[in-house]
Amino acid sequence: MCGIVGYIGDRNTLSVLLNGLTRLEYRGYDSAGVTFIRDGEIQLIKKKGHVSELKAEVARCGFVLDESLVNSIDVGMGHTRWATHGAPSDENSHPHISMDKKICVVHNGIIENYDELRTFLKRKGYKFASETDTEVAAQLIEYYYLQNDKKDFEEAVRATLRDIVGSYALVIVCADYPDRLICAKKDNPIVIGIGENENFVASDIPALIEYTRDVVFMEDNCILIMKKDSIRITDIHGDEISYKPTHIDWDADAAQKGGYAHFMMKEMFEEPKAFEATVNSRIKDGEIFLEHIPMDKDFLSKIKNINFVACGTAYHAGCVGKHLIEKLCRIPTNCCVASEYVYSDPIVDSSTLTIVISQSGETLDTMRAMREASKLGSKTLAIVNVIGSTVAREADYVLYTAAGPEISVASTKAFTTQLACIYLIAFKMAHILGKIDDSQYVEYQEELKAIPSKLTSILNKQSEIQKFASMQFNADSIFFIGRGIDYYLSMEASLKLKELSYIHSEAYPGGELKHGTIALIEEGTLVVSPITQEALASKMESNIKEVKTRGAIVLAIVPEKLNNREFSCDEKFVIPDTDELLTPILGVLPCQLFAYYMAVNKGCDVDKPRNLAKSVTVE
Ligand code: AGP
Repeated sequence: MCGIVGYIGDRNTLSVLLNGLTRLEYRGYDSAGVTFIRDGEIQLIKKKGHVSELKAEVARCGFVLDESLVNSIDVGMGHTRWATHGAPSDENSHPHISMDKKICVVHNGIIENYDELRTFLKRKGYKFASETDTEVAAQLIEYYYLQNDKKDFEEAVRATLRDIVGSYALVIVCADYPDRLICAKKDNPIVIGIGENENFVASDIPALIEYTRDVVFMEDNCILIMKKDSIRITDIHGDEISYKPTHIDWDADAAQKGGYAHFMMKEMFEEPKAFEATVNSRIKDGEIFLEHIPMDKDFLSKIKNINFVACGTAYHAGCVGKHLIEKLCRIPTNCCVASEYVYSDPIVDSSTLTIVISQSGETLDTMRAMREASKLGSKTLAIVNVIGSTVAREADYVLYTAAGPEISVASTKAFTTQLACIYLIAFKMAHILGKIDDSQYVEYQEELKAIPSKLTSILNKQSEIQKFASMQFNADSIFFIGRGIDYYLSMEASLKLKELSYIHSEAYPGGELKHGTIALIEEGTLVVSPITQEALASKMESNIKEVKTRGAIVLAIVPEKLNNREFSCDEKFVIPDTDELLTPILGVLPCQLFAYYMAVNKGCDVDKPRNLAKSVTVE
């Protein structure tokens, strides 16, 4: 949710900033801007629209974006926005500069008391150029800066932070201090990139991985003073804090499209590898190893119930987890929407295990829920993709998905690898609890290991889905229906379709449709139905007949073993067989492909769907 990048060093600063913003565009793409200090003056270029429009504007202003050119800029920072306060416009774009042009800021997060601070500043004579909460921060820092005889930039930032209520990643420059930038963080991510005689800050690693692999994940309530040849991190009182750099293993290519038309397509094609990387290293000699999680009889004997907590796609992975753990382990399990969790007065104590799922590890709703669970005495286990993210750092235990960077806003490989982690946990728990014997345990492990090649065989048949989508993309409304575990798969399929193609869609349990929603089925309505559970197949056939009678067109997704069975569907997509508990991992891929091709046919911006952002760091 908003992407920030800052740079100080000898490279062509504008090139570094715009390059970084392009890599962070998945976080927000309503508008973008850069600011820099040259000859003691703050200069600003910002534009409504995508980073490409900002690039054109920068070129129009006479700047050449060539990294080999000598830098004439002292320090610079940039921002790509996901609007919260104030519509997307040139004026509301970041960076925001103070009235006397001393201070300039970029911000990710929400300043909750901005109205009150704005009124205070207006009384002091400050005039505002935008409707944003962020501008308040720039003006307030300048106010404190000018008040102070010593003109102490750092102290002005500290004074402002004492007044601000809310969440922020703020990067700030001051015209009188062209040798540094200051950065403050609370509940929004900031990664510091350490180079040789150059340093970087960014909201996420892809913005700086091309330049350095040595990074520091900034902690909440810390302030960074970054110069070309030094970084200093302090707490809010100015006391220095030690830090430990982390070395990042991915190469820059992992965050590139690599010849695919969209990141989403590339990421779907990476699912077999990502799944394998998540699973294989954790299975050895018939045993599942969950690094750093002390899962044994003693650990499990203290757990009386389990809560999955997550948002969006990750929530759907949690729903599959609930199904799985209840079925295999017979431990009462819930899956909670993270944004509701804190306000639902959850019944949680030390006998609850809370499993938090998040690709980014920075989703504020999820973070808040995790903190609440922890406050109530629950142990927290996080399934996270981004190494070093806040959720990963704050949870009691972490299991990383090895999906690599997921850039497309629509989550694909993150979902399948989240499922991989959930299956590993569930199988291990069931074995420890004696609910499955050794041979069943090993059989499940073998099924998991066989998944990557089955995912590949689905990808090899993607043209079938492409063809179907090319005939259906004008649909007004699409229903996904499924029973049991297929209902959770339907929920994820429906979300993917809506977010990418903007077609209205709903997911329903197959048997629930007739209790009201069937009124919406009419001639030509498209219904997609995963049918992967043999015992539920005849019930699903009845549900398909109900919608067919009312004119629906039906696509069924079935495993090979049900391929010979008669269904009243119009089209069928066949997925490889696997154990029935594991079918969501295979069933979701054709649904992702379907959503992708529907969006492409409609001319939608696949990697950057409207109104969305990859990492949602507001409540
Ligand atoms: C998925 O396609 C979404 N864009 C969204 O639902 C996402 O899964 C959700 O916002 C949670 O994000 P997280 O996994 O980073 O916490």
